[in-house]
Amino acid sequence: MRIAADNQVSVAGFLHRNEGFSFVAEAEGELIGNILCGHDGRCGYVYHLAVSQHSRREGLASAMLASSIEALRQHGIAQCHTFVAFRNLTALKFWRSVGGNLRPDLRVVTIDVEERLPPAGKGRSHGPMLDTGTSLP
Ligand SMILES: CC(C)(COP(=O)(O)OP(=O)(O)OC[C@H]1O[C@@H](n2cnc3c(N)ncnc32)[C@H](O)[C@@H]1OP(=O)(O)O)[C@@H](O)C(=O)NCCC(=O)NCCS
Repeated sequence: MRIAADNQVSVAGFLHRNEGFSFVAEAEGELIGNILCGHDGRCGYVYHLAVSQHSRREGLASAMLASSIEALRQHGIAQCHTFVAFRNLTALKFWRSVGGNLRPDLRVVTIDVEERLPPAGKGRSHGPMLDTGTSLP
């Protein structure tokens, strides 16, 4: 998921706050894969996972994820979550192959912090749910 905060400073800050959970794959000095992982004390999260096109299906993502999961385990974190775009079938197949369970009981809700929310209660409208067109009940 690419967002405006994907820049060197914010990623460096993330790595500083979550040291030891993220990994890269390199070949001949070239970066060919990376995983961005951290935890909040209760659950782990994989925020980013990618492997260069020409290096896919070689087990790199599985290996990087295994390293992150092991680091979480060593810190007593029992569960790890990730967001997967609805139409990213490759990613869904990948997560299934590593034992991931889809959560049909959950939806992702996003609030744009830069936008001012109207006061709670009276007059508060329920807007559409982003690109799904679904309204909050
Ligand atoms: C998803 C991604 C990270 C997988 O990386 P990878 O290094 O190719 O994954 P692995 O080699 O560890 O694959 C492990 C298993 O996942 C499944 N899998 C991975 N890619 C697949 C594909 N294109 N089609 C079907 N199954 C696939 C397979 O079961 C595979 O095992 P196998 O190769 O023995 O059949 C990679 O395709 C990628 O970078 N995609 C673009 C970014 C992205 O979508 N990231 C996920 C965000 S949630």
